[in-house]
Amino acid sequence: MAEFLTLGIETSCDETSVAVIADGRKIKSNVISSQLDLHTKFGGVVPELAARCHLETMLPVYREALREAGVSLEEIDLIAVTYGPGLIGSLLVGLSFAKGLALAGKKHLVGVNHIEGHIYANILERPELEPPLLCLTVSGGHTDLVYLEDWGRYHVLGRTRDDAAGEAFDKIARVLGLGYPGGPAIDRIATGAENNLEFMQTKGMAGSYDFSFSGLKTAVINYLNRLKQKEEPIDLQLVAASFQRVAVEQMVEKLFRAAVDYQVKAVLLSGGVSANSYLRKRCREEADRMGLDLYYPPLILCTDNAAMIGAAGYYVYKTNGPGDLETTAQPGLELPSVDN
Ligand code: KG4
Ligand code: ZN
Repeated sequence: MAEFLTLGIETSCDETSVAVIADGRKIKSNVISSQLDLHTKFGGVVPELAARCHLETMLPVYREALREAGVSLEEIDLIAVTYGPGLIGSLLVGLSFAKGLALAGKKHLVGVNHIEGHIYANILERPELEPPLLCLTVSGGHTDLVYLEDWGRYHVLGRTRDDAAGEAFDKIARVLGLGYPGGPAIDRIATGAENNLEFMQTKGMAGSYDFSFSGLKTAVINYLNRLKQKEEPIDLQLVAASFQRVAVEQMVEKLFRAAVDYQVKAVLLSGGVSANSYLRKRCREEADRMGLDLYYPPLILCTDNAAMIGAAGYYVYKTNGPGDLETTAQPGLELPSVDN
């Protein structure tokens, strides 16, 4: 039987990406153009610059994705595009492009929730993974603990009450003078360092599946201020590694408590922060101790990419059928929970 080809399009933040996915799981191409260099000097993503850059790179990235996959638009069966959450200007570039292609090529179109995309990054090239699954998505914009009961049926068990996990890494890296993006910088200097400083976390979070990183952030900043007042030297590696330990232990505790409560056999990590080596190490230890399978995407699929949007779009289409050209960009879109 001929393969079912989905064209995935992702422009929600600062990566312009187009991918061709066969049968929802096989990557035929996944072209990613990162704007990291453009934003680094500003210490974060500048929305207006991001949108303009997407406009310039959209068409070449699309052409390259088709070329690498060795297919033409005529052969594509479905177009899947991120419609939220994300930056409004950035989302609009990808969505308008996708609508234009759908109209011109007479193709079905589905809108994909970006958080849903991060979860599906795990199933690419892994035919053995089927629901029910438990996934922790931790990135610059979101922190979601999700129980995937079936394709398209999500129970959102917990979210962050303040900063997203990646945002906390980025903010602490900034106060430590480590630059942007902060997560990889903290990960790097924390490797092999002592991590035994105790930083208090936000009270009242025990027993909940919700996350909070603001108490931890304040504790680190207060610690640094105390040392500066006393004119004592700051051990950057010790502070970074201790922050990382406390942040990661919060994620690990909630993820594995949910694994017991929902009796899953496999736990999944996704999103930019799932690249963190300490998080991976701790999850590996806990999964081995509890006899669970642990999955996380290869590095290139942890951060934003269109392959995961193509994979999610295929299952959205299989579950709900085609979307329509009225789909609008939704910057604050949340993952719909069947419990609400
Ligand atoms: O998924 P992503 O590329 O974009 C969003 O959808 O937000 O995630 C980017 C986030 C940034 O906050 C970055 O600092 C963080 O992921 N990150 C990391 C690591 N690599 C990227 N955080 C901790 N450790 C890492 N190794
Ligand atoms: Zn993302």
